[in-house]
Amino acid sequence: MDQKADLLKRLNDKTATVAVLGLGYVGLPLAVAFAEAGYKVIGIEPMTSKVESLNQGKSYILDVPTETVARLVKAGRLEATSDFSALKKVDAVSICVPTPLNKTGDPDLSFITSANDELAKYIHPGMVIVLESTTYPGTTREMSLHRLEEARGLKVGEDFFLAFSPERVDPGRKDYNTLTTPKVIGGITPACGEVAAAWYATAIQKVVPVSSAEVAEMAKLLENTFRMINIGLVNELALMCERLGVDVWEVIDAAATKPFGFMKFTPGPGLGGHCIPIDPLYLSWKLKSLNYTARFIELASEINTNMPRYVVSRVQDALNDRGKALKGSNLLVLGAAYKPDIDDLRESPALDVIHLLKQKGAKVSYHDPFVPHIKVEQAEMDSVPNLIDAVRKADCVVIITNHSSYDYAAILKEAKLVFDSRNATGKLGKDNPKVVKL
Ligand SMILES: NC(=O)c1ccc[n+]([C@@H]2O[C@H](COP(=O)([O-])OP(=O)(O)OC[C@H]3O[C@@H](n4cnc5c(N)ncnc54)[C@H](O)[C@@H]3O)[C@@H](O)[C@H]2O)c1
Repeated sequence: MDQKADLLKRLNDKTATVAVLGLGYVGLPLAVAFAEAGYKVIGIEPMTSKVESLNQGKSYILDVPTETVARLVKAGRLEATSDFSALKKVDAVSICVPTPLNKTGDPDLSFITSANDELAKYIHPGMVIVLESTTYPGTTREMSLHRLEEARGLKVGEDFFLAFSPERVDPGRKDYNTLTTPKVIGGITPACGEVAAAWYATAIQKVVPVSSAEVAEMAKLLENTFRMINIGLVNELALMCERLGVDVWEVIDAAATKPFGFMKFTPGPGLGGHCIPIDPLYLSWKLKSLNYTARFIELASEINTNMPRYVVSRVQDALNDRGKALKGSNLLVLGAAYKPDIDDLRESPALDVIHLLKQKGAKVSYHDPFVPHIKVEQAEMDSVPNLIDAVRKADCVVIITNHSSYDYAAILKEAKLVFDSRNATGKLGKDNPKVVKL
C-alpha cells in the first residue's frame, strides 16, 4: 500500500484521527484548531484535572474560550484521555510536551523521551508525527527518529512520516493566534515534510515548508534568541541610562520614531515564561557539545538574569532617598504573572523580586488580578483583596507586571512611593516625585 497517498487522502477528507500529546498552553489551542478544521481530535494528557476539565467542556487556558471547547466536545470532535493506547487508532500526532531546564540549567528532555516511548509502543504504518516542543537543532532526528524507527522496524518517509514544526503561540496576544500565525514545517525526509505540511495546511491559514527538521528547529531558536538578546540589550541600556541620568523610556520612544532599521524592545524586571528565558539555552547547550560558546546568548542571559536583583537594589535606593530602610518596610508588588494580562507564572521575575525583597527583611504583599495565589520558595501568599487599601498602606508600590486593568492614576494618587519597572505609569509618572522608574 502507498502509505503516503493513503494518509494524504485521509487528511484531506478529514477522516484521519488526530492526537495532541500534552494539552497545555500550546497543545490545547492546537487541538482546538484541528477540531475546528473538522478532524476528530483526542488530547492525550497525563494530568487528570486537565482531562476532566476538557471532557466536561471547560477550558483552563485563558486564550481558549470555554464555549469553543464545550461546542467541540458536544459535537464529538474533541476529547481527552490519559490513556496513551488511544494512539492505536490515531493517524496524525502533534507532540506539545514541555521542554524546561533542569536544576543545573541544562535542557530537560525527559518529556520528549517519555512521549517518544509512548509513541514507540503504538506507532503503526500510515502515521504522521510532528514535534512542536521547542528544542535544540537535531532533536527530531537524534531522539525521535531513532526511537520510532527501531520500535517496530518501520521506515521513515515510507511507512510513517516525521517532522518538526515550532509553535509560535504568544499567550494573551489578541491579533494573532494558532490559526492565523504562519507555521514553519520541516520534515526528516522530503516526503515527511510534504505530508506534515499538507496536514497542517488543512487547519492553519499559512504553512511555510522548509527543507529539513533542523531548519525548522533552528528557525524557532533564532526567533526566541533574537528576542532574548534584544531584551538583554535594552536592559543593559537601562543600566547605562541610569548612570548617565538619562530617561531610558524617552530614549527608546525617540529611537522608535525611525521608520526603518529599528525594532522597539523595552527593559523590565527580567525575563519570564516558558520560552524566552529557556529556549536560547537549548541552543547554547547544544553548541557547547560542539566546542562552541554561544557568546551573545550567555551575555544576554547574564544581564537578564540579574534584572530582579537590580530592581531590588533600585527599590532599596528609592526608599533610602526617603530616609527609609528596605528592612521592615511594607512593599506591595503589583503583578505576579510574567507579562501583562495573562495568568502564567512560569519563570516570572516577580517571584524572584518578591523572594529577594523578603530576604532583605521587607514585609512583602502582592496583587495580581489574574493570579490569586503564589508560592515563593516555601511561603504561600494570596493576592491582597483590596488593592487601593494595600497601595495606601505600602511604603513603596513596586510595579512588576503592567496589567492593563490597573488604574495607574488611582494608584499614583494613593501611593507614597512607586517603583515602576515597566513604565506602566507612562506620562503620569514622568517627573512625578512619587515615581522612580527603571
Ligand atoms: N507557552 C508558550 O507560550 C509556548 C510558545 C511557543 C512554544 N512553546 C513550547 O511548546 C512546548 C509546550 O509548552 P506549553 O507552554 O504548552 O507547556 P505546558 O506545560 O503548558 O503544557 C505541556 C503539557 O504536556 C503535558 N505532558 C507532560 N508529559 C507528557 C507526555 N509524556 N505526554 C503527553 N503530555 C505530557 C503536561 O502535563 C502539560 O499539560 C514547550 O516546548 C514550549 O517551549 C511554548
